[in-house]
Amino acid sequence: MIKITKTSNPQYHDFDFSDIKFGQTMADHMFIADYEDGTWKNLRIEPYGPLTLDPSMMALHYGQAIFEGMKATKTYDGIPVIFRPHLHAERFNISARRMAMPEFPEDLFVEAIKTLVALDSNWIPRGDDAALYIRPFMVATDAQLGVRASNNYKMMIICAPAGKYYAKAIKLLAETTYTRAAMGGIGFVKAAGNYAASLLPALEAKKKGYDQVLWLDAKEHKYIQEVGTMNIFFVIDGVVVTPSVDSKTTLRGVTRDSIITILKDKGYKVEERRLSIEEIRDASIAGTLQEIFGSGTAAVVSMVQDLSYKDDVFHLDSKFEIATLVKKEINMIRQGQVEDKFNWLYPAVMDNSIVR
Ligand code: COI
Repeated sequence: MIKITKTSNPQYHDFDFSDIKFGQTMADHMFIADYEDGTWKNLRIEPYGPLTLDPSMMALHYGQAIFEGMKATKTYDGIPVIFRPHLHAERFNISARRMAMPEFPEDLFVEAIKTLVALDSNWIPRGDDAALYIRPFMVATDAQLGVRASNNYKMMIICAPAGKYYAKAIKLLAETTYTRAAMGGIGFVKAAGNYAASLLPALEAKKKGYDQVLWLDAKEHKYIQEVGTMNIFFVIDGVVVTPSVDSKTTLRGVTRDSIITILKDKGYKVEERRLSIEEIRDASIAGTLQEIFGSGTAAVVSMVQDLSYKDDVFHLDSKFEIATLVKKEINMIRQGQVEDKFNWLYPAVMDNSIVR
């Protein structure tokens, strides 16, 4: 049972929905659950606000912290819907297992998100590219300094209205010094530390005029993995190619999966395979590199205008026909404008039987 305490001072009236910056204003409520004595307890939704933390709390020292990112939109007739929450619930537990954290029951994960989104549905922005971004996360809360898996955790969910993550086509730098993920590591999970480790390379790339880095494999700096903020797709001679996630060094993106499904359904040839940066260079030289785009919950589908690798710049003078098509399709599904033929939308309508 989720205990609900509603805010007496909702803020959505004062929020400027015409000028949304990603993740800067939080919705009115948050979900919290505590893991104690081997079980999840004290499930509650409260007004959004600061936490009191013990300075020796383990997540602050050893980074035992994971998260998810998903989105809720409203269909054209006003029903709040969450995009593929069960797949996010599954991935949250894949992350939890790898980071020696307790799993959070998938039905409870979806129920908590549904209840929170239903309560804060006034925060869901309307229009293409706009959504309520939902951020579930789990942190280790044992207050002690020995290095071990914590016994206690907090699982929380907060929400923030979101517009476009990238306002225009971006420039990427293929990273040849730093690496993100090696085989056997944690590249395939949404661990907070993966993002912390990407910050310095991203800052250095920014100083050189790039928006993000494109990660290459840790052994040879040859095979493409993903971008710091999203998965990556290439269109080469009419074929859509994206790095395979089999080596467990790349995040199994939910938007990535949605794009593959949509494009295959529309008859496009899609390949998930090992893909080297040299192959992209060769395609660029041969004139067969037609599109590059990123995919992610935050980024949705983001076009890449330039990719630099060593001394080469692969410039895309492209209409981005496939990226535009798939982005439009995702937007239309989320807004209920086309049939939800893959059953990806989950209505966020309050079920009074579980709420007190
Ligand atoms: C997401 O797309 O949900 C992420 O976690 C990536 C981050 C850039 C916000």
